[in-house]
Amino acid sequence: MASHLLLILAASLLCGGTIPVDCSSRTTAAAAATTVNVTAFGKAYGKVCDADRFAELGLNMSAFPYCDASLPYAERVRDLIGWMTVEEKVGNLGDVSRGAPRVGLPPYKWWSEALHGLSSTGPTTLFDDLRSRPGNHSGRATVNNGTVFANVINSAASFNETLWKAIGQVVSTEARAMYNLGKGGLTYWSPNINVVRDPRWGRALETPGEDPFVAGRYAVNFVRGMQDIPGPGAGDPHARPIKTAACCKHFAAYDVDDWHNHTRFTFDARVSERDMAESFLRPFEMCVREGDASSVMCSYNSVNGVPACADARLLSGTVRGDWQLHGYIVSDCDAVRVMTDNATWLNFTGADSSAAAVRAGLDLDCGESWIEEGGRPLRDFLSVYGVAAVAQGKMRESDVDNALTNQYMTLMRLGYFDNIPQYAALNETDICTGEHKGLALDGARQGIVLLKNRGNLLPLDAKKILAVAVHGPHARAPEKVMDGDYTGPPCRYVTPRQGISKDVKISHRAKTTIYFGGINLHIEREGNDREDILLPKNQTKEILHFAAASPNPIILVILSGGGIDISFAQNHPKIGAILWAGYPGGEGGNAIADVIFGRYNPGGRLPLTWFKNKYIQQIPMTSMGFRPVPELGYPGRTYKFYDGPELLYPFGYGLSYTKFLYETGTNGSAVTISVPGGHCKGLSYKPSVATTPACQAVNVNGHACTETVSFNVSVTNAGGRDGAHVVLVYTAPPPEVAQAPIKQVAAFRRVLVPAKDRVHRRAVRREQGAGRERRLVVVGVVPCQDRALGLDSVAVRGDVFESMFVTVLAFSIQLDPKRKY
Ligand SMILES: *[C@@H]1O[C@H](CO)[C@@H](O)[C@H](O)[C@H]1NC(C)=O
Ligand SMILES: *[C@@H]1O[C@H](CO)[C@@H](O)[C@H](O)[C@H]1NC(C)=O
Ligand SMILES: *[C@@H]1O[C@H](CO)[C@@H](O)[C@H](O)[C@H]1NC(C)=O
Ligand SMILES: *[C@@H]1O[C@H](CO)[C@@H](O)[C@H](O)[C@H]1NC(C)=O
Ligand SMILES: *[C@@H]1O[C@H](CO)[C@@H](O)[C@H](O)[C@H]1NC(C)=O
Ligand SMILES: *[C@@H]1O[C@H](CO)[C@@H](O)[C@H](O)[C@H]1NC(C)=O
Ligand SMILES: *[C@@H]1O[C@H](CO)[C@@H](O)[C@H](O)[C@H]1NC(C)=O
Ligand SMILES: *[C@@H]1O[C@H](CO)[C@@H](O)[C@H](O)[C@H]1NC(C)=O
Ligand SMILES: *[C@@H]1O[C@H](CO)[C@@H](O)[C@H](O)[C@H]1NC(C)=O
Ligand SMILES: *[C@@H]1O[C@H](CO)[C@@H](O)[C@H](O)[C@H]1NC(C)=O
Ligand SMILES: *[C@@H]1O[C@H](CO)[C@@H](O)[C@H](O)[C@H]1NC(C)=O
Ligand SMILES: *[C@@H]1O[C@H](CO)[C@@H](O)[C@H](O)[C@H]1NC(C)=O
Repeated sequence: MASHLLLILAASLLCGGTIPVDCSSRTTAAAAATTVNVTAFGKAYGKVCDADRFAELGLNMSAFPYCDASLPYAERVRDLIGWMTVEEKVGNLGDVSRGAPRVGLPPYKWWSEALHGLSSTGPTTLFDDLRSRPGNHSGRATVNNGTVFANVINSAASFNETLWKAIGQVVSTEARAMYNLGKGGLTYWSPNINVVRDPRWGRALETPGEDPFVAGRYAVNFVRGMQDIPGPGAGDPHARPIKTAACCKHFAAYDVDDWHNHTRFTFDARVSERDMAESFLRPFEMCVREGDASSVMCSYNSVNGVPACADARLLSGTVRGDWQLHGYIVSDCDAVRVMTDNATWLNFTGADSSAAAVRAGLDLDCGESWIEEGGRPLRDFLSVYGVAAVAQGKMRESDVDNALTNQYMTLMRLGYFDNIPQYAALNETDICTGEHKGLALDGARQGIVLLKNRGNLLPLDAKKILAVAVHGPHARAPEKVMDGDYTGPPCRYVTPRQGISKDVKISHRAKTTIYFGGINLHIEREGNDREDILLPKNQTKEILHFAAASPNPIILVILSGGGIDISFAQNHPKIGAILWAGYPGGEGGNAIADVIFGRYNPGGRLPLTWFKNKYIQQIPMTSMGFRPVPELGYPGRTYKFYDGPELLYPFGYGLSYTKFLYETGTNGSAVTISVPGGHCKGLSYKPSVATTPACQAVNVNGHACTETVSFNVSVTNAGGRDGAHVVLVYTAPPPEVAQAPIKQVAAFRRVLVPAKDRVHRRAVRREQGAGRERRLVVVGVVPCQDRALGLDSVAVRGDVFESMFVTVLAFSIQLDPKRKY
């Protein structure tokens, strides 16, 4: 999102904590001034196709087949578009769409966000400010704040797919309730699944981290939680009903916001085919193919010279063609305008850019966010220039019809025209329920990562220590720190200090000190990449001061989205324990206290590598490659290509209050993969390799890659506390292949493992079928994403912490001998 969001952000930052009422009402007022009704139905109607609604407009609904629920969606959509003039059609290409009141179609606001709970970003979701409008809002029930979950980087750290889906389910329930109350939309532009390629990126907090596969699994689960309606699915995926529409963004190769004056608006990401397939596209491919997301958002940046929103190969070719998107493609807000005004691509006029985007496959232009001097909002480019573009022959009316078809098919599936009976009764009592807050708390706890615990300093025994000293800028972290970005106001909000104070007294004279440090959205946020990955200097000084002054080693709690170089603390004898708590949302203070006082045994793992600051001095943020570039001295990126010295905590790192051991069963046997129509391809081998196979690799384009290998890993909890443990399974390619990743995640699973003695005690119950998660079957998939498979064996490994590798399986990929390659 562009300047509108920045405006809001700037406003909230300037306003500070003392006068939040003014701030929120200013924001709401600005949004309201630019927009029409939230649901466009006024007070009375929950669906477009309501005969009374038509009658009120002086229309007879039966004359409009698009409201005939007995017809297939595709036919209804064709009918609807058939009624519209070119002007009406074009008026619906922007996110604040005009509708066509003449034929009964109301306006609709497309822009809603739900990254980790319903967000106030965008003009659609409207929470009520009780203080300025006590007891009332537009004559409807008052809705005062939703459930704010921990930020996505926290949830990612849980590595718990069940949690990710559950969050999507709760958020979509609150969304449907808001929609019923006329205060929210049905189309949500979440999740953000760009991989964190560089530790400086300002939006790491919004994402599931640096691994493309993990990000893809996050996307699949969150999207399914947001979209899927329980019960048997419809046969035709184009007509499958959905609860809310989710959106995979930002497509593609977007992860530079503003670094050394390279802004996302003009940045041209130069990306190799290989990085594109393996890293940049992979989460999106999973989101669309496996998650069946109903939307994709194209990004501002160019990819190899072409603005992403005008790239027919990416939009029509890849997303709609190869991946078979069932839904609509939306631009990041003002990306079409940016093409004309800022990227100045091919000297395009407004009509040129609009036509280029639509012809490339864009269906909707988010573009209400440019505010002119004097506060007059400008319309999106497509509605402003679309008619001219058609008149000048730059795009065809049928291109517009095609875009509208993708839009209205999505709205049909959402029940915008007919409603969805099972969600029609949701109301304000379904927002911020006890259960929802409970999930937010559980999720926040699951994402906390224990980075250091010298001498088992943690957990603290509240009964023994009685009091702690609490210091640091985030002890009383305000909402805007704990909640991170793309958030709404939380319905409950607990600071770290409030959480701690429920267990012990807070006293500066206590012998145990907890320091709450880290960074905030001034330092890392949308539109702002980091200059360095250190803590603010005075904070480091302060931590060292308290460490020296404290009789006992201190506990350091870090709040941040991206990794922070805290080398000074890693081995410091007076800094006994370090917790990373991300930006843990409304329940964050309770979650942190639960971990510190041992009510919850931490099991989170870092979803991204924590580098030392020196790493970023070795490579400019704008170098897009993941593999090292020896000629330029650039190191590789992410755990897949970097295991050098400038690493503080590796991807997947995280300790527990207990100890886990692995046992593995049999080693697997060879898996034969026949690759139809494949042909031999070259593979780069390391110079030291003397002989290479005649057929080095096969092209697996068109191969489904569904081969799986399963193996058992038995996880034993050898300590005295129950705990959750994340099993991460990596594949490692043959060592002689050059340019290959060091390893990559192929599967992961979070499991609860009761403490050893309790396992024994529960043995009898277990045998009677009570759930025992100690032995799990992990399914490894053949790593197909490279689109080329080497012929040699591939080892699948599980790890417990960074140093222990256990080979659990080796299998080989063989060509079908009956075929010619
Ligand atoms: C919402 O729609 C109703 C009915 O069309 C209209 O009377 C009302 O003025 C609209 N409200 C806004 C804020 O546009
Ligand atoms: C509405 O249209 C239908 C079909 O065109 C017709 O049968 C019906 O009589 C009309 N109703 C009114 C109130 O005009
Ligand atoms: C809320 O609004 C409705 C409709 O405008 C009105 O009837 C009611 O009196 C209002 N209630 C309060 C408490 O202001
Ligand atoms: C960015 O541009 C501004 C204005 O042109 C200039 O003052 C500043 O030094 C530049 N910053 C960097 C990091 O290049
Ligand atoms: C884009 O171009 C417009 C028009 O020239 C200008 O007003 C605006 O500041 C530019 N925006 C950015 C982000 O560079
Ligand atoms: C773009 O327009 C400018 C000003 O009209 C002109 O000087 C320039 O040559 C044009 N560039 C191209 C590539 O057409
Ligand atoms: C909200 O829904 C619940 C459950 O359907 C119902 O009991 C309650 O009366 C509704 N509340 C309002 C204000 O309509
Ligand atoms: C809702 O959010 C606003 C703004 O953050 C806050 O002032 C208010 O206290 C919150 N309401 C509740 C019930 O927590
Ligand atoms: C560090 O300096 C900043 C800016 O002067 C200040 O706002 C902040 O409170 C200081 N932090 C600490 C921990 O002293
Ligand atoms: C599996 O293979 C590894 C390495 O080849 C070997 O060390 C291990 O003993 C084997 N395990 C079993 C259960 O056969
Ligand atoms: C995993 O363990 C179960 C139960 O012991 C066993 O039935 C199954 O065959 C094992 N699977 C593999 C792939 O070793
Ligand atoms: C995963 O998350 C779900 C939902 O919060 C929770 O019930 C479950 O216990 C979690 N699993 C583990 C292993 O922590």
